Amino acid sequence: MAPQKIAVIAGDGIGPEVTREAVLLLRFFAEKRGLPLALWELDLGAERYLRDGVTLPAEVLRTIERECSAVLLGALGDARVPGLVAREILFGLRFGLDLYANVRPVKALADRLVPLKSRGKDAVDFVVFRENTEGAYAGIGGQLRRGTSDEIAINEDVNTRRGVERILRAAFDHAQKSGRRRVAMADKSNAMWHAHELWRRTFDEVKSEYPAIEARHFYVDALCLYLIQDPSQFDVIVTNNLFGDIVTDLGAALQGGLGMAASANLHPGTAKRVGLFEPVHGSAPELAGQNRANPFAAFLTAGLLLEHLGSPQAGAEIERAVSAALDAGRCTPDVGGALGTDEAGAAVRELLAGSGAS
Ligand code: IPM
Ligand code: MG
Repeated sequence: MAPQKIAVIAGDGIGPEVTREAVLLLRFFAEKRGLPLALWELDLGAERYLRDGVTLPAEVLRTIERECSAVLLGALGDARVPGLVAREILFGLRFGLDLYANVRPVKALADRLVPLKSRGKDAVDFVVFRENTEGAYAGIGGQLRRGTSDEIAINEDVNTRRGVERILRAAFDHAQKSGRRRVAMADKSNAMWHAHELWRRTFDEVKSEYPAIEARHFYVDALCLYLIQDPSQFDVIVTNNLFGDIVTDLGAALQGGLGMAASANLHPGTAKRVGLFEPVHGSAPELAGQNRANPFAAFLTAGLLLEHLGSPQAGAEIERAVSAALDAGRCTPDVGGALGTDEAGAAVRELLAGSGAS
């Protein structure tokens, strides 16, 4: 079988440290489990921009689209360069590859990671489908009379029928395929009527095609309240780009922090489309270069990547090994251990090596 090509962008801050561990994990699956993977390391991010002003060259994007099955991204963001650099790379990939579904599983892997009083890991297991190509992120807007007391600053919330419908459908399809019973849609149609009534109406239409699934609507503020009061009532949450960004940080807190949160940017519905896989955490400059960053979000992200490549058993194996490492306290301080990034990474690979193929 021809190897599947994976572009690797380690990026900025803690990106290179956690990506190094994730790459070792992917190599483990290539060598010990026989997965045909070819890694293509790309030099993109702040260092590259400082050297030659490059962010995401058009020909790199085209090659990724043509030749790769996946992109593994560490993290982007570095105070030495304008924020535009991270945005051009991250949004360049999300928008440029039309990865309209940002799929973020929120699953607690150990009881102690759940910050809610008397709730354990069983209470936190849902997945967020965040619309990923429009909404407040569409980049429509501008500034007028900048720097004066009459300044105006606008970012439009762009919602298209096609964009809303495809993310809703992706959420319902996922629920149906994965045996999850409930889909919750969150908007703010009580305040942003023009833009979000479209979500309400489209949701009502799409849900009628999935009679076996319980479809519920929430205003996003109420959703946040219920997520803290009782996260166990959620299976699949679908929402727009901005709300999805916010809700998934809340979700990360429920599962033990940003060091545990994984994500997949996908184009569901078309077989063999390239996917972008990134831990939800940012570049965390205050941790960079100290061997303190938690590599588990990057590991769980690598698991989603291998699932995308057609190896769901590899994803499940990674999740089990990360859970076992957490149970044994073989992890970084943010999740209750005392290991460095590299030692926590080695612990998971050792557990995988010991478990044999499953
Ligand atoms: C995320 C991040 C990004 C986003 C930032 C870095 C632009 O917060 O992936 O959740 O807002 O999408
Ligand atoms: Mg975010």
